[in-house]
Amino acid sequence: MAVALAILLVGLAPATPLSSAQQPPGCPSTCGNISIPYPFGIGAGCARDEGFQLECNHTSSPPLLIVSNSTGGRHRQQLLSLSLADGEARTFLTAKRRCYNSSTGDMVSENDQNATEMSLSGTPYRFSRSRNRLVALGCPNLAYLVDGRGSYISSCTSICRTPESVAAGSTVGFTGEGCCQSSIPYSVDVYKPDIIGFKQGQAGDSVLLNSTAASSILQSSTVCRYMYLAEDRWIDAAYRDGAVDFNRTDDFAVHVVLDWAVRNAGNCSAARRNLAAANYACRSADSVCVDTGDGDGYRCNCSKGYEGNPYHDGGCKDINECERAKEYPCFGVCINTLGSYHCSCPPGTSGNPTIQTGCVKTNQGN
Ligand SMILES: *[C@@H]1O[C@H](CO)[C@@H](O)[C@H](O)[C@H]1NC(C)=O
Ligand SMILES: *[C@@H]1O[C@H](CO)[C@@H](O)[C@H](O)[C@H]1NC(C)=O
Ligand SMILES: *[C@@H]1O[C@H](CO)[C@@H](O)[C@H](O)[C@H]1NC(C)=O
Ligand SMILES: *[C@@H]1O[C@H](CO)[C@@H](O)[C@H](O)[C@H]1NC(C)=O
Ligand SMILES: *[C@@H]1O[C@H](CO)[C@@H](O)[C@H](O)[C@H]1NC(C)=O
Ligand SMILES: *[C@@H]1O[C@H](CO)[C@@H](O)[C@H](O)[C@H]1NC(C)=O
Ligand SMILES: *[C@@H]1O[C@H](CO)[C@@H](O)[C@H](O)[C@H]1NC(C)=O
Ligand SMILES: *[C@@H]1O[C@H](CO)[C@@H](O)[C@H](O)[C@H]1NC(C)=O
Ligand SMILES: *[C@@H]1O[C@H](CO)[C@@H](O)[C@H](O)[C@H]1NC(C)=O
Repeated sequence: MAVALAILLVGLAPATPLSSAQQPPGCPSTCGNISIPYPFGIGAGCARDEGFQLECNHTSSPPLLIVSNSTGGRHRQQLLSLSLADGEARTFLTAKRRCYNSSTGDMVSENDQNATEMSLSGTPYRFSRSRNRLVALGCPNLAYLVDGRGSYISSCTSICRTPESVAAGSTVGFTGEGCCQSSIPYSVDVYKPDIIGFKQGQAGDSVLLNSTAASSILQSSTVCRYMYLAEDRWIDAAYRDGAVDFNRTDDFAVHVVLDWAVRNAGNCSAARRNLAAANYACRSADSVCVDTGDGDGYRCNCSKGYEGNPYHDGGCKDINECERAKEYPCFGVCINTLGSYHCSCPPGTSGNPTIQTGCVKTNQGN
């Protein structure tokens, strides 16, 4: 019913300027300063389906944008940004923290799993492989990620040098010294971080290391060990100039990038094969379907020469190139056409109309 209503509303959407055409009439187009483009929507009937439904919590200031129905997630997921053009959304997670007794090596505390784990299973979102990195911080620390079935996905190992060897000349950075980073595969929809600490001697929850070589990694340790998945740019900004506080003990939040797509059909051709059953999302006539790079699903784009919201009927509008001299320079006669434009030298001249003084008088009557 919600889906049918959404289609009906989209069908009724009048030809209005792009800014206001991002949502069916009567549906909020922003939450705080974040704009909400269809297929996302706030409230039933405004989104393409339940998966794209969001909530705007006005109790807080600024208002919070929340993923409705965050299924497997034990906490309600807040979105920090949402983009139609690149198919991305940003959210945050608390870094997983585990702290140890420095004399015994036993684990003494860790933070709440509900804040450090996230399941996107059954939602349009996936953890972006290209925009996130896995980070292990503190040492010695074998940080690893498992999927929903508990199978290994990715890991990183962080080891510290002794203060003496650091003083003797070495830099701290993402080299596995104090912290390290690695990548995750495509299609990850469940994020379950775990940390293995190390200790010498008796068995416990930590791995036993007895060899001489291994004991060198135990010589220098931090009280707390962290693991998180975070946006590449967030990591680069947070650790600019190698300023890594790998010996911290507090809890902190990190930004994570999610890729979203329409995932009720595996790809564009499967969705096109049965437009009605798949509720084909690329509604605008002047749109193209784009397969996702991260598993099942597709997204829509306006065709070349068009811009707007491809998820609406008539949502992609012709770009009038003649009114955008900066992007489409034309110093001659500019004529806009659907999806393109013509730029030519004025009558009596010829040459290159796309550069200034490119058109020169044609020698006539010679
Ligand atoms: C919204 O406002 C916050 C702070 O007020 C700012 O950090 C953020 O970049 C803004 N987001 C957008 C999409 O403008
Ligand atoms: C949303 O929640 C309802 C009720 O808990 C559930 O039946 C439905 O499957 C959920 N939908 C999505 C897309 O998660
Ligand atoms: C809105 O946010 C406030 C403050 O963060 C919270 O107490 C409240 O439960 C939220 N309401 C809903 C409906 O999520
Ligand atoms: C570490 O373990 C030792 C030996 O069990 C104990 O005496 C000490 O209080 C512990 N320290 C902390 C911070 O838990
Ligand atoms: C974590 O979430 C589960 C399931 O919602 C809940 O039962 C549990 O109390 C939560 N734990 C904490 C520490 O909030
Ligand atoms: C490892 O070292 C501990 C204490 O130093 C010792 O009790 C244990 O037997 C050793 N284990 C092995 C396999 O060498
Ligand atoms: C971490 O800090 C503590 C106390 O501030 C210090 O004793 C320890 O050597 C530091 N660890 C590393 C690996 O720098
Ligand atoms: C699209 O999905 C269908 C059905 O799952 C599959 O047979 C086909 O090979 C896929 N096409 C592409 C281009 O991936
Ligand atoms: C989608 O359109 C944007 C510009 O609107 C363009 O930058 C992007 O490359 C397009 N993506 C694909 C896959 O065609």
